[in-house]
Amino acid sequence: MKETILVTGATGTVGREIIKQLSLQDRHVRAGVHSVITGENLKRLPGVEIVEIDFRKPESLHAAFTHVDRLMLITPMTEDQQEMARNLVDEARKKEVKHIVKLSALGAGAEPGIQLGRWHRDIEKYIEESGIPYTFLRPASFMQNLVNYNAETIQKEGKFYMPMGDGKVSFIDTRDIAAVAVEALTNDGHDSQVYELTGPAALSHAELAAILSEETGREISFVDVPEDAVQQGMLSQHMPEQLVNALLELYAVQKAGKSSGVTNTVQEVTGRAPHSFRQFVRDHKECF
Ligand SMILES: NC(=O)c1ccc[n+]([C@@H]2O[C@H](COP(=O)([O-])OP(=O)(O)OC[C@H]3O[C@@H](n4cnc5c(N)ncnc54)[C@H](OP(=O)(O)O)[C@@H]3O)[C@@H](O)[C@H]2O)c1
Repeated sequence: MKETILVTGATGTVGREIIKQLSLQDRHVRAGVHSVITGENLKRLPGVEIVEIDFRKPESLHAAFTHVDRLMLITPMTEDQQEMARNLVDEARKKEVKHIVKLSALGAGAEPGIQLGRWHRDIEKYIEESGIPYTFLRPASFMQNLVNYNAETIQKEGKFYMPMGDGKVSFIDTRDIAAVAVEALTNDGHDSQVYELTGPAALSHAELAAILSEETGREISFVDVPEDAVQQGMLSQHMPEQLVNALLELYAVQKAGKSSGVTNTVQEVTGRAPHSFRQFVRDHKECF
């Protein structure tokens, strides 16, 4: 009998790609969606069923976890993500789930690290203590952030704004994170592994802009902005202060060049090289 794989955060950047790749492998996938309306188009993929869950409501998890063999655990970047994840791990233990693959973040193992990493590390520890076999994926910042957060100003003004200076970041394409996740969810040999995942090179934001310009044939420039302006912008969009501070801390680390390490893990786990930023832009040209 085919195993059932539950993917949470299924309509998100990484979850959606994992489900797409699993469905190409003829797997039995249950997509845990926050709302059936946003998850509607996942139903068209072969072997995929959708189930509505709210991480904040443990009672909504019972049906979703029935007969689940493996869990791809993705929670959103919120200040209560630990509580959400604990609800998922508790339900996984009750339902005797055999393996959890958790989407974490690069730097989660650092001491003392930064707040975003500590939130992930706390969840990782909770999973370790649950006794359920696990694999932790710790990716660098996503190339797809450019599409999700910067595409609008790139399209309108030919500019994108970040408090990054000339700090280099080893951005990864979420298609590569998904490929590693699929490998860990469908093959043996990944128990207790912690995979630090990066793209093939560390690039500054000016270098990203140069590649975006070359590939789109339009002048696209990076504008370095002061942290204060970014802070005000996020607060004016009603982002919780704790999360704003956590993001500013991440940006400061990246600006200082401390997120520039490159690993070979995507190649080692999947047998193929990770996508370059240039390839990513070629494949997403219409977004810019
Ligand atoms: N972005 C980066 O560069 C980066 C780098 C490293 C690690 N990470 C980590 O990646 C994770 C986020 O992954 P992602 O970017 O793929 O996620 P995402 O695109 O932000 O999507 C989050 C998903 O969670 C769902 N969701 C939100 N609240 C929910 C709730 N209460 N109950 C059920 N589902 C809920 C959302 O559904 P709705 O949209 O319908 O609410 C959505 O499907 C975070 O843990 C973050 O720390 C991100």
